[in-house]
Parts: sequence; structure tokens; C-alpha cells
Amino acid sequence: MRIRFKKWARPELAASPFCMDDAFSLAGKWRAQFAKPEQPFYVELGCGKGGWVSQAAVLHPECNYLALDIKSEMLGVAKRKTEQAFAEAGREPDNIRLSILNIERFSEVLTPADAVDRIYINFCNPWPKEGHKKRRLTHPRQLRQYAAVLRGELHFKTDDRDLFEESLEYFTESGWEILHKTFDLHADEPADNIRTEHENMFTDMGKKINFLIAKPPADAFGKPVPNLHAPETVKLLRSLEKQHGIGILTDEEFERQKQRILNNAQEAEHDEGMELEES
Ligand SMILES: C[S@@+](CC[C@H](N)C(=O)[O-])C[C@H]1O[C@@H](n2cnc3c(N)ncnc32)[C@H](O)[C@@H]1O
Repeated sequence: MRIRFKKWARPELAASPFCMDDAFSLAGKWRAQFAKPEQPFYVELGCGKGGWVSQAAVLHPECNYLALDIKSEMLGVAKRKTEQAFAEAGREPDNIRLSILNIERFSEVLTPADAVDRIYINFCNPWPKEGHKKRRLTHPRQLRQYAAVLRGELHFKTDDRDLFEESLEYFTESGWEILHKTFDLHADEPADNIRTEHENMFTDMGKKINFLIAKPPADAFGKPVPNLHAPETVKLLRSLEKQHGIGILTDEEFERQKQRILNNAQEAEHDEGMELEES
């Protein structure tokens, strides 16, 4: 999704008590950021303009919500939406937090100490090109990051049938259990389904909504996840490159290194391939 630059977004986010401006410094401390740290902790990845999370947090004061997005413009809109939703409900936004994050770096920000109870992925970018599929938020390399911190289930919605079917394979090959799946969520829409901005838009276009609930492998919680962005890893790879060239690396290491380079480029170009132009 493209969104125009909003010069008010960063200052507003910085001044907001429920927008956390340095997600990395809060690793392992997320629960303490909420008024009731003991409540179930739910995380939405790629929250966009926050239509879903602002409604969910108002409807469920008994749960804590963290919404993450790579774009400050998106988060700025989400912040305003959240303020409005809570003002209408006559409540303080004490069970919602927003933060900027590239989900590629998820495991640097959410750790087993944060004990996530549920992850939501709503209408993530489908990245249909073969060379871009590793950027999908449901790709196995991301699932490994989520599984290390997730005590409960992951809920995934998309209009994109190819992405959905390939994601079913990703989950299965990564050892996740598919607890529920449907290729047409609205055929018998659950009363508690909260529609996102994209869900409404794709539904209006006549597209069917795919939905699944999956559970990570039981032994994955707390398993260390390689951090390709850690300064020491980057330094080591650079010195290996310098000393020996890429030829000494195993196929797996070569692939990791390639991904690191692609990841660095990703943030700058992540708008490419996004399906919508928005103002
Ligand atoms: C298609 S929009 C969906 C927004 C919203 N979830 C909805 O359903 O309406 C995808 C969102 O994911 C965000 N996004 C894409 N790649 C991301 C990444 N690597 N890390 C964090 N957010 C990302 C985009 O900025 C965008 O807001």
C-alpha cells in the first residue's frame, strides 16, 4: 500500500503516550507498557491505518494490543483512529500500543519474555514474484521468529488465494498445526470478526476472504532465532567476505548473507509491488 508523506505523522507519534518510539529498547518489557500487564498480549503485524486494532482494543479491554507497521505515515493515521475510537468509547487507550517496526526484525523486539498470546496478520502484501516471496509475513523464516515467542495462535486473513495456499504450505512445512481454515470467511462470518480496511475494500470488489488459525510447534517457544541484523553477525559476515570471499560459505550461509543484503534494500523499496495507491 502506498501512502503519501505526512509531515505531521512522526511528531504526533513521538508526542503520543501510546506510541512507542523505540521498539528495540522495549524487547522483553512489552507487557509492562500496559496498565494491566497480566492481560493476554496480542500483536498485529502490518496494522496499516489501524482500523482493525483500534476497534479490537476498544471492544476488548480485557486484552492488550501491540500494532506494528513499517511506515510512520500508516502509524500516524492509526494513532488518530485509535484516539477517536477510544474518545467515542469514553476510555483511555491503556490497552493499546503502536510502534514502527520492519517485521524482518521481529525477534529483536519481541522475545520469549514478552510471551505473546496471539499474532494477527491481516492482508499482508502478497509479494507474488518468486524472488520476493521471502518478504511475505507468512514466509517460513518469519514463522520461525513468531514461533519463538508465541504461546497461543496466529490468525491470518488475506484476499489473495495464491498467497493463502502457499502460506498453508509454509505453516505445515514449518511444523505449525492448522486449527481452522476457510476460503470464504464471509460465507458464514463469525459474529466477532472485525473487518479491516482492506477486508472491506476487497469484499466490496467481490473478492473472497481467506482465513486460517495456526498453532506453532510446541517445542519452538524460546528457541533462539538467528539474528541476521545483529551488529556482531554483520561484522563477522563482512570480515569473512573480505578474507575469503563468498565462496567459502556453505549454501545455507550464502543464502543468509544474500537475504541480509536483500533485507537492507527492502525497507527503501518496500512500496514496490504494493497493490494500492492511497492518499
Ligand atoms: C496491504 S496493507 C494491510 C493493512 C491492514 N492490515 C489492513 O488489513 O487493512 C499492508 C501493511 O503492511 C505494512 N508492511 C509491509 N511490509 C511490512 C514489514 N516488513 N514490516 C512491517 N509492516 C509492513 C505496510 O506498511 C502496510 O501498512
